[in-house]
Formats: sequence, structure tokens, C-alpha cells
Amino acid sequence: MNGKLIFAAIAVPLIQINPACADPVSEGKLVAEQHCSRCHVVGGYNPNGGISSTPSFQLLVNVLKDYEERFDTFFDRPPHPAVIIMRGIKKRDDLPYNAAPIEISLEDVKNIAAFVKTLRK
Ligand code: HEC
Repeated sequence: MNGKLIFAAIAVPLIQINPACADPVSEGKLVAEQHCSRCHVVGGYNPNGGISSTPSFQLLVNVLKDYEERFDTFFDRPPHPAVIIMRGIKKRDDLPYNAAPIEISLEDVKNIAAFVKTLRK
């Protein structure tokens, strides 16, 4: 079997099985639903969930003009440093995590930013 055939035999089914490979919006939606919904209401995923003192993603993207900047840097904005582990980025303090930490990558941050744009009205 030549290399192209082997690639097609392995990669095509993987792309089909894993909807997360589809595009940044679906990937970001998945990460946001899996992790951010612990505290935030994330679109239609958990309308009665989250923590009441935490702004919903819909509120953030529809009310704050600089929401893109905030989503690009949220992991460095309180309270996130106390709970988010950014792969490959050094934690800025030695304080212990205040809840089971959530580990994500910069790619996840980009994908979440793509997803939250879809929540704009
Ligand atoms: C432990 C609870 C918790 C988790 C988990 C959490 N957040 Fe938040 N987030 C908050 C709270 C509370 C605020 C409001 C902070 C404030 O008003 O100063 C907030 C605010 C934000 C803001 C606005 C930041 C600002 O400075 O205005 C963004 C953007 C955000 N979160 C994104 C996310 C994303 C993306 C995730 C998932 C990867 C996430 N959050 C996970 C609690 C959480």
C-alpha cells in the first residue's frame, strides 16, 4: 500500500468520527461546554447551569465591546488563574488552585474565541 492510501485509510475515518476535527467553531464549542460551563452559562448548552455570579457567554459577547480581547486573554484574568492550567505557559504565581484545575491549550483559546462569535445577536 502506498503512503497516500495508508493516510486516507487512517485519517479519513478519524475526521469523520471526531466532529471536533471539523472546524474551530465546533472544537471551541466542545471545549467551552466541557470546561467553561462549570461556571458560565454557555449558549443553549446549560441555560439553567453555571454559577449565578458568573456572566453568561451570551452576556459577555453581546454587551462588552472588547469581548474579543477578553476571550483572547481570559486565562490571565481573575478568577481564571486560580483554576486554568495553560499548556506551555508558566503559571504567574505559586498560589494553589482553588478547584480541580482545567487544562487547555492556546489552540483551545482560539477555538473558543471562534465559537463565542456565533453567540452574537
Ligand atoms: C471557576 C469558575 C470559572 C470557570 C471554570 C471559567 N470562568 Fe470565566 N469567569 C468566571 C467569573 C466569576 C468571571 C467574572 C469575573 C469578573 O467579573 O471580574 C468570569 C469572566 C470571564 C470572562 C470575562 C473576563 C473579563 O475580564 O471581563 C471571559 C472572557 C471568560 N470568563 C471566559 C472563560 C472561558 C473561555 C472559560 C473556559 C475555558 C472560563 N471562563 C471558565 C468564572 C469562571
